[in-house]
Amino acid sequence: MLGRPDGSRNVILVGFMGAGKSTVGRLLARRLGLCFVETDDMIAAQEGKSIPEIFAERGEAHFRALEAAVLEALGEKQGHVVATGGGFPCQPGAMERLRTLGTVIWLAADFDALYERASRLGGRPMLAGRSREDVAALYEARKAFYRQAHLAVDMSRLGVDAAVGRILRYLREHERARPANRSAAVRPGP
Ligand code: S3P
Repeated sequence: MLGRPDGSRNVILVGFMGAGKSTVGRLLARRLGLCFVETDDMIAAQEGKSIPEIFAERGEAHFRALEAAVLEALGEKQGHVVATGGGFPCQPGAMERLRTLGTVIWLAADFDALYERASRLGGRPMLAGRSREDVAALYEARKAFYRQAHLAVDMSRLGVDAAVGRILRYLREHERARPANRSAAVRPGP
């Protein structure tokens, strides 16, 4: 699926709320010896507020503007595993940009599992005041963005360990394909 990795040294996880980006990202970073960062944490630290507080006080449009600024700032990062918020790659041009910053992995799953997990964990303003049908429609619409990832991993079939194993294998395979004189972890094939 989905083409070759572009860019190099970051691994960027995208996917809907509840997909397990934080859990997979943390473990993946440990296995790769890379730093782990979450775009939501970058925003919360910068604003001195939680994500629900930002939504409540300034609204979604403001939060999306903060995400756009973080996307710019990601250009300075190398050697990171980045877990993005569910809507982060769904702004115009965001996926194209992410693909230049590293290998982009979509953690995909069945909607029911995503919805159940995200609702259970809480702290998701995008679920507040939306019916299940509306959230399902949002997921369908976002798939067009997530699909632009280099690799999709089906979290409905794989546990966290197996998903990390799948990603590591993909990174290794593409590492092998790159020319020997390049030092980056992952490079596009010929
Ligand atoms: C959002 C997902 C959240 C967070 C914010 C908005 C979204 O991140 O960025 O609440 O639009 O789907 P998670 O995907 O980690 O829940």
